[in-house]
Amino acid sequence: MALNLKSLLFVSLFIALMVTPIAEAQLGLVSGLLGLIRIQGTLFCTSNGNIGVNGTSTPVFPNALVQLQCGAGNVVSSATTNGSGVFSIVLDPLQVILSSLLANCNLVVNTPLSSCNSTLPSVGVLQSSLQFIGNTLLGLLNVVNIGPSGFLFQA
Ligand SMILES: *[C@@H]1O[C@H](CO)[C@@H](O)[C@H](O)[C@H]1NC(C)=O
Ligand SMILES: *[C@@H]1O[C@H](CO)[C@@H](O)[C@H](O)[C@H]1NC(C)=O
Ligand SMILES: *[C@@H]1O[C@H](CO)[C@@H](O)[C@H](O)[C@H]1NC(C)=O
Repeated sequence: MALNLKSLLFVSLFIALMVTPIAEAQLGLVSGLLGLIRIQGTLFCTSNGNIGVNGTSTPVFPNALVQLQCGAGNVVSSATTNGSGVFSIVLDPLQVILSSLLANCNLVVNTPLSSCNSTLPSVGVLQSSLQFIGNTLLGLLNVVNIGPSGFLFQA
């Protein structure tokens, strides 16, 4: 009996030690215990990638490779825009600190604009910093929504 209690205590302590680093990692989050970070936006087929004066009738930029670059240009993740020009990059909050994501990372599009409209440039990149949009609940998951602050064309 005494031996069983001892081993039970040992196992509990072991579990507590295993779980602690995960709890600490989550302190860097605005989300709860279960969550993910979603970077989503729409890329438009215009000279700067943003929505034009004609609003929703602005043509979109499908099949463009959108990279998430952090620090000195490290590609952390990427996604391709779909037929509606929408890209979506999902990140695990245990591996990314939200504040450093917003401060150090950019969205970069290397796919030339000429691939959606031949009169647009065939060299240069579109680039945007990131902004926090808000949190939404997806069942038990807290989704931290991030979007582009606005793309700029860089020759
Ligand atoms: C906006 O829409 C109008 C009417 O359809 C069109 O004449 C004009 O060229 C459009 N402007 C741009 C920048 O797409
Ligand atoms: C593109 O993705 C968005 C967001 O998931 C979705 O609402 C839209 O229907 C998709 N469009 C196409 C053409 O698949
Ligand atoms: C292609 O881009 C040019 C220059 O921005 C624009 O005038 C034209 O309307 C665009 N064509 C289409 C099909 O979007």
